[in-house]
Amino acid sequence: MTAAEPIAAGQNRGFGVDVGGSGVKGGIVDLDTGKLIGERFKMLTPQPATPEAIAKTVAEVVRHFEWTGPLGVTYPGVVVNGVAQTAANVDEAWIGANASEIIGAALDGQQVTVLNDADAAGLAEERYGAGRTESGVVVLLTFGTGIGSAVIHKGVLLPNTEFGHLEVGGKEAEHRAASSVKERKSWSYERWSEEVTRVLVTIENLIWPDLFIAGGGISRKSEKWIPLLKNRTPVVAAELLNEAGIVGAAMAASGDVTH
Ligand code: BGC
Repeated sequence: MTAAEPIAAGQNRGFGVDVGGSGVKGGIVDLDTGKLIGERFKMLTPQPATPEAIAKTVAEVVRHFEWTGPLGVTYPGVVVNGVAQTAANVDEAWIGANASEIIGAALDGQQVTVLNDADAAGLAEERYGAGRTESGVVVLLTFGTGIGSAVIHKGVLLPNTEFGHLEVGGKEAEHRAASSVKERKSWSYERWSEEVTRVLVTIENLIWPDLFIAGGGISRKSEKWIPLLKNRTPVVAAELLNEAGIVGAAMAASGDVTH
């Protein structure tokens, strides 16, 4: 869609931007349904992906929609009060950077809420997607370059869990079972699912969730591997797929979720 498309009066709207390794994607979100209003808009992630370069790209995405209200932005690492604390798979210049301020400055002071990418996806899936009928503890894991995690209970997020860095059998979980490991080692789904099972068993023995939601690109082929998992907690595939980050970021910015 373009900014010219009419939007119904009174609609509960938000704006989210999902910053990934290859693309920076944004869109206007209907917070009553968790659906995008119109198309999302995507730009390539600048390289090197420094805070200033990303801030500029986020600003272009926001301006594409002429959005002037508060907005949410995802970041693939720990974020505390807007400040990035880790940078496992992104440019190290992010560590200690006040992401909310830097992106806000690129947008002439617009209010920006920055949160972890998996936390955003978890918020969205729990409210509108695969976790919407689950009333207990939901753990979303994103399988991609790394493994991201979100823990949510009755709509309340416990921010910045980093289960991708849990040590599982002497190795970090994401070095064992991220989907990038499957690709790099040319593993079959059978072989990879053994590693995913080990990671899930470690997590479920520590926090006993009621449901796991599997996200990340590889969740599109969930029928090939979710049935192979041998852990005890039910595992379902994410439903919002590549929109979950945008939707969750918009939720966080709307202020009606705890973070
Ligand atoms: C980071 C997490 C992030 C995940 C997915 C991990 O390496 O530590 O914060 O959510 O990758 O991007």
